[in-house]
Amino acid sequence: MPEQASETAVTITLNGKEIEARPGELLIAAAERHGVYIPRFCYHPRMKPVGMCRMCLVEVDTGRGPAIQPACMLPVAPDMKVATDSPTAKKVQEGVLEFLLINHPLDCPVCDKGGECPLQDHTISFGPGESRFVEEKRHFEKPIDISGTVALDRERCILCDRCTRFADEVAGDPLIHFQDRGGFTQVNTFPGHPFASYFSGNTVQICPVGALTAKPYRFKARPWDLEAVESTCTSCAVGCRVVIDGSRNEVLRQNGVDSDPVNWGWMCDKGRFDFQAVNSTDRLRTPLLREGGSDLAESRWSTALAAATEAIKTGLDRSGPAGLAVLGGARLSNESAYAWAKLAKGVLGTDNVDAQLGDGLPAEVVLGLPRATIDEAFAPGSTVVLLAPDLKEELPVLFLRLRHAVVNDGVKVVELATHDTGVTSLAAVSLRSAPGAEAELAQLIADGGTPTAGVDPAAAEAARVLVRGDAPVTVVLGRSSLADSGAGTVAAAAYLLDAIDGVRFLPALRRANVHGALDLGLAPGVLPGRVSLDDGRAWFSEAWPTVPAERGLDALGILTAAAEGRIDTLVLLGADPLADFPDRDLATRALAGARTVIATDLFLTDSVAAADIVFPAAGFAEVTGTTTNLEGRVTTLRQKVTPPGTAEADWLIAVELSRRLGTDLGLESAEDIWDEIEQVSAVHAGVSAALLWGSERADGVVVPLSADPGPATDAPLSDQQVTEGDPDEVTEAQAAPPADPDAPTGDPGDDAAAQGQAAAADSAAQAADDAGEAQAHHAEAA
Ligand code: SF4
Ligand code: SF4
Ligand code: FES
Repeated sequence: MPEQASETAVTITLNGKEIEARPGELLIAAAERHGVYIPRFCYHPRMKPVGMCRMCLVEVDTGRGPAIQPACMLPVAPDMKVATDSPTAKKVQEGVLEFLLINHPLDCPVCDKGGECPLQDHTISFGPGESRFVEEKRHFEKPIDISGTVALDRERCILCDRCTRFADEVAGDPLIHFQDRGGFTQVNTFPGHPFASYFSGNTVQICPVGALTAKPYRFKARPWDLEAVESTCTSCAVGCRVVIDGSRNEVLRQNGVDSDPVNWGWMCDKGRFDFQAVNSTDRLRTPLLREGGSDLAESRWSTALAAATEAIKTGLDRSGPAGLAVLGGARLSNESAYAWAKLAKGVLGTDNVDAQLGDGLPAEVVLGLPRATIDEAFAPGSTVVLLAPDLKEELPVLFLRLRHAVVNDGVKVVELATHDTGVTSLAAVSLRSAPGAEAELAQLIADGGTPTAGVDPAAAEAARVLVRGDAPVTVVLGRSSLADSGAGTVAAAAYLLDAIDGVRFLPALRRANVHGALDLGLAPGVLPGRVSLDDGRAWFSEAWPTVPAERGLDALGILTAAAEGRIDTLVLLGADPLADFPDRDLATRALAGARTVIATDLFLTDSVAAADIVFPAAGFAEVTGTTTNLEGRVTTLRQKVTPPGTAEADWLIAVELSRRLGTDLGLESAEDIWDEIEQVSAVHAGVSAALLWGSERADGVVVPLSADPGPATDAPLSDQQVTEGDPDEVTEAQAAPPADPDAPTGDPGDDAAAQGQAAAADSAAQAADDAGEAQAHHAEAA
């Protein structure tokens, strides 16, 4: 649990020295902040203290004489005198360790935790040195599988209550418990009820002994053989900070890093365990080429690149830029997304580019709305309107953050959805609509009125009271249903933007780096920097060789055009429309209808198997760069292993293709690309590589930077750009125009931000027109 902010310090004496603690702060935390580590097993700063293990016993005198007290349960009090290293405290700590080791098997040489085990470390640092216990220890069947990914060795358990508390308190999945009594107490699941939680791997991470182990890691390595890098999970748009452990060029495990604004140390099992895909023997290792209607066959890079170049040139000669389309990009790093945006839009001149596959929202909507960070959205006492997919399924750690906010911080959730979700049980009010009718519910909760059939009037009124109250309101916005075009969600967002003063939005798009892809232009009608095609045309005409003449097609439009034979060259940028696009039949016809399909991917998916030219791409943990989460927070990705075979980073494939097409993209490395992004993209202005990679920015940087740069970088430029009023205006391409190409480079952040803010007002009227057009286009395409 985060330490509470304090106004007035409390002075206590710790081991003879006076220190200042925060009012209400637990003694164990205050001591740690002042460099005194009190041993602990059950205490965890993100969970409620429970005083279970007694390892933190210290000698405390509050004026009534010294007494032994658990430091994890004791808030500091004025004039408290604490001794953590007195003979009495040491004797107690030795006693606790001797007691805990009575039944612990001490099988460290074969235990996965050996080498990074708090019980081992504490025994050495605080233990008695030897045990008086000679009786036989407890035995249990070992190990038992309590879920698909977690194994339990019960005899190693020291009954610290961390796993059980996490499952109950944090995840809300109380599936692991203590059973039996006294010396026979064991941790276990109930028969027939496995630990089927999306968050089970966190218990492995926080278990202070080797009782809970992750099956993908069991017996794979010893901690001293591991090399670690800190990076960001790219399995969904939350962007949890992680540490990747590997050995001998193989990723072996991931653990969550306690990033205060994002994941608090937690991960979901999808993100924690899907690193195994990186090591898969099914990875694409060489380019593949289909010649003359044959099957795909292994090829050389030079041959495949020549074939792709020829196909693109032929297509351009035949149909111009309108015959070229790029689908995907949300798998890519920011650097690769920019390189492909520059190739597609800035060299080949096509705007038929979409990183979403019919499962998101128009880029103008996402980029134009005033955005909240996770901390802002779930601030104590606030109201959250959920107009989004099932967060527990799609953005699992965002669900954990929301759950904490509801259970502990009085946040009220108003859920507008087409069906029950994993969040429904947390909602103060949950209202149902048919797909596409979300706007009616939005109007009902904003303004009241007569509910449609099936909506409980009392619930609707309760929702209205919440969103019309004094508490700040954030709308978590995404597609709650893929059964319609999303136009209802867009209309609902427009209504809420218009109706609720100061409302902010936290986009809940499904794909990993979709926000980075949109920020960098991989969507129709936008250019890098959250700028519309028209608003950014002048600047990008200077910065790039060309700019698309007109707005292009989104995913639905691209696939429809391809199915009708109007697309000569279709590039799949880590996209698998056969699996991911809601209409598989259309995707099948599209892949068959495009004259040439070029794919860059990690695996031979169904769609890649239907391509004509395939490039093997580097994936997670194989590239260094950056990614952007749903807050607009840019964090770093670090390479841990080399890609398999001849697989390459996606940006390098774009650079090489462009060179063969006659244009040097001028991008030699990921660092080069970031420098160019910082120069040309208004929202990234001032976000230097040094700022991103500096150790003090491990939590990343929310873009755009505030005009007053400081530790808090959470003032979205779009705040000043969305005009409240006409609900249609929500669909505007209202992002800031880019920095003046001739502007001095001394402080690009200030220049770009200032120009963006000034120009936003000018572009509002035009953007409103664009909005109507975009909305109409989307509805028509749907
Ligand atoms: Fe604690 Fe681990 Fe036992 Fe759970 S299994 S109670 S985390 S020691
Ligand atoms: Fe990764 Fe998303 Fe899970 Fe976080 S919530 S661990 S980013 S998949
Ligand atoms: Fe205090 Fe366990 S850490 S009782």
